[in-house]
Amino acid sequence: MEVYVSKNDLQDALKAARKAGKTVGLVPTMGALHDGHISLVRRCRAENDVVVVSVFVNPTQFNDPKDLERYPRTLEADTRLLAAAGCDMTFAPTVGEMYPEKDTRVFRFGPLEQVMEGVRRPGHFNGVAQIVSKLFDAVQPDRAYFGEKDFQQLAIIRNMVAQYNYPVEIVPCPIVREADGLAMSSRNTLLNASQRAAAPLIYHTLAAARALQNDMGIAELKDFVTAQINRSSELEVEYFEIVGAEDLQPVTTREEGKALQGCIAVQAGAIRLIDNIAF
Ligand code: PAJ
Repeated sequence: MEVYVSKNDLQDALKAARKAGKTVGLVPTMGALHDGHISLVRRCRAENDVVVVSVFVNPTQFNDPKDLERYPRTLEADTRLLAAAGCDMTFAPTVGEMYPEKDTRVFRFGPLEQVMEGVRRPGHFNGVAQIVSKLFDAVQPDRAYFGEKDFQQLAIIRNMVAQYNYPVEIVPCPIVREADGLAMSSRNTLLNASQRAAAPLIYHTLAAARALQNDMGIAELKDFVTAQINRSSELEVEYFEIVGAEDLQPVTTREEGKALQGCIAVQAGAIRLIDNIAF
């Protein structure tokens, strides 16, 4: 496996691969890799001739400077995991390499960004769109892999690809969880012992709500989830929304044949955790 810091070097290597008729898959990440990320890399490995994984903590998507500062950075361990998972090219650029000039582009996603993370993290999805578009331009992948863990991000990326006609297939990948149910996240390592012990309650409550969905209305389900999780002194629900799985707009009643997703953000001390489940 090669590690590239320079975009030009990466592009030279990719040019050679493409000339030989090879397909290219891309997995964008911010590093601090865990089995959730690696599941995307393995899927990418199975479906493409060349696997490119980017490892870049993108400053423009952090609305909270403290979150950016404490975000874990573990490039050495990441490259070992990536080599073992069959990655061909790791792209680990510097901030100056990705942003030689300030990126002033403004992406608009309409109602998709006017809910949940889009409201609570102003500018976040614009920063995600800036970096993912730069990565798509640099790598020009045939396929790109995104986790359902970040359910709204996946919808935003699909929308960006449709708006700008990127010739890339977006492949959604299921959430990978710890044995106790907690959705894997690079931020989990920042939890203290009591927060970590409390955190599985998030998924267990989502699963309980799914099991109860035919016995409760939407409003009742929302109250149930919030109350159950807030019982823990370590956790505080920021929002829990039941939304259309396609349009991400909150629903108040169930519609026959419409797929719904329950999406949650929970504060555990200073650390923010998100999760979601199909209803
Ligand atoms: P990051 O949080 O590192 O996640 C990289 C990819 O891994 C995302 O597509 C995310 O949804 C997926 N992922 C994370 N945890 C997962 C889990 N437990 N199960 C399955 N997939 C999981 O998302 C980002 O980085 C950034 O916003 C990025 C797209 C790289 C742009 O900077």
